Amino acid sequence: MTVDDAARPWWRDAVVYQIYIRSFADGDGDGIGDIAGVRSRLPYLRDLGVDAVWINPWFPSPMADGGYDVADYRDIDPLFGTLADADALIAEAHGLGLRVLLDIVPNHTSDRHPWFVDALAAGRGSPERLRYLFREGRGRGGSEPPTDWESVFGGPAWTRVLEPDGLPGQWYLHLFAPEQPDLDWSHPEVRAEFEAILRFWYERGADGFRIDVAHGLVKDPAFPDLGPRLRAPRAGDPRPHPHWDQDGVHDIYRRWRAVADAYGERPFVAEVFVSHPERLARFVRPGELHTAFDFRFLKAGWEPNRLREAIDDGLRALEPVGAPATWVLSNHDQVRHVTRLGRAAATAPEAVLPLGPAGTTLPVTGPSDLALGRRRARAAVLLMLALPGSAYLYQGEELGLEEVLDLPDELLQDPAWMRSGHTIRGRDGCRIPLPWTDGASPFGFGPPGSEPWLPQPAGWGALSVAAQTGDPGSMLELYRSALRLRREHPGFRSDGMTWLDAPDGVLRFQRGDGLEVVVNVTADDVRLDPGGHRVLLASVPLDSEGDVLPGDAAVWLG
Ligand code: GLC
Repeated sequence: MTVDDAARPWWRDAVVYQIYIRSFADGDGDGIGDIAGVRSRLPYLRDLGVDAVWINPWFPSPMADGGYDVADYRDIDPLFGTLADADALIAEAHGLGLRVLLDIVPNHTSDRHPWFVDALAAGRGSPERLRYLFREGRGRGGSEPPTDWESVFGGPAWTRVLEPDGLPGQWYLHLFAPEQPDLDWSHPEVRAEFEAILRFWYERGADGFRIDVAHGLVKDPAFPDLGPRLRAPRAGDPRPHPHWDQDGVHDIYRRWRAVADAYGERPFVAEVFVSHPERLARFVRPGELHTAFDFRFLKAGWEPNRLREAIDDGLRALEPVGAPATWVLSNHDQVRHVTRLGRAAATAPEAVLPLGPAGTTLPVTGPSDLALGRRRARAAVLLMLALPGSAYLYQGEELGLEEVLDLPDELLQDPAWMRSGHTIRGRDGCRIPLPWTDGASPFGFGPPGSEPWLPQPAGWGALSVAAQTGDPGSMLELYRSALRLRREHPGFRSDGMTWLDAPDGVLRFQRGDGLEVVVNVTADDVRLDPGGHRVLLASVPLDSEGDVLPGDAAVWLG
């Protein structure tokens, strides 16, 4: 079925470009990306052919976790600019036909948020403490944490505070760093405040929100221990978890949807880690959120059966609720997929950060064949962009950037590095400032002579936007062509897909009338029967007959 274009909400098949603002473009030369930098590069994003951008948190923050520790949800951190700059960015993006999604962080605030500062000062039993999850400790004198819950970044999820009298007292919950105290979402003021924050940004023109840790807001009020088994959750574990994916979160999102709907089509996209696709679908039921990332696709690596299963299970679970799928290959928490797909164990699903029942971040170790990784990444993006639903691109993937694995220890900033006792290096390697021009660092990221907040590899000039532009074999031109075709060809606007017969290890499917996609997830050539179609786009050059699809390659036929 092809839905009439005019009636089709824009977000159902949007391609959204994720801007990790610290590392996108630095306008003022302090080494840190900012709003001025983003504004200067908006024409690049329009020409790339995306529909929208999602900007990682840009609010005032002590930056204990790259801005996911928000001290004021209604302002901009001075590192990035001012509210007036934000308004200008939104207006300019709209002028170019780009929508702007922001990143809301409702599970926790910064420990410098006025609410938390007040809670510490007001002491036990005060109304100020009730907005967070303060509890008495266990054991002698309350010296043990209230539960055995662990922080995603390592160590206990509870920190003991000094009471106003200077003595150790209550503990507060933080599922992430101690600088990120969890809010108590059973408190009406917490609910009202976030609804007001949504409205604040809608009024300023925000077109939607990505919701951080959307599955974590509600905790089991009994605060049970996890015990040894639930502390290391496995994908598919059906047992309820006391702080992930509690049923109570859905009430919150029904309210949020009503707030959003008052402003028109302003989609949410939820970051959700759950045990089953059916649990994911609950977040996007009618009257709840519009979309939620399906990370099983990202975690399927380069293994044909796992890819097909992730696609099928994801689509099947969403069908009854009528929500579109949301695909993604990389983001600011994951090892860049060029590096992942270049590993022998490109399929290894282990989690490093236990962000929920299905885990998330993949290991940052193991050698990677980057040429192979890039070849597979080219095929992978043609697969992703041909699936029904929306897709998210992470800045730099269109350049084929790899994970930077050799950052000096003393430069690592991810709280996971400190909190894991220096065993998990964390996510800095996917957050390196982008190369825009050839030559030497900062490669156009900032003005000449400025020093990016994380060092860029010497070879990244060759991967820069300037170096790839106009080179028909480059990753950037592949993305540009794919995004242009995705807009032009009506097949991409059809709902659903139909699998076609294909040899082992080859995924072949049809979208609408006349669009076919073939992805060879093996290392060997396969015979390609174009069936009367012509080649619209291929991830590798095809021979003139067009009847062979080489290994690790994909083609769009139409
Ligand atoms: C999400 C973010 C991640 C952050 C965490 C805590 O998973 O994507 O970057 O560290 O939430 O807010």
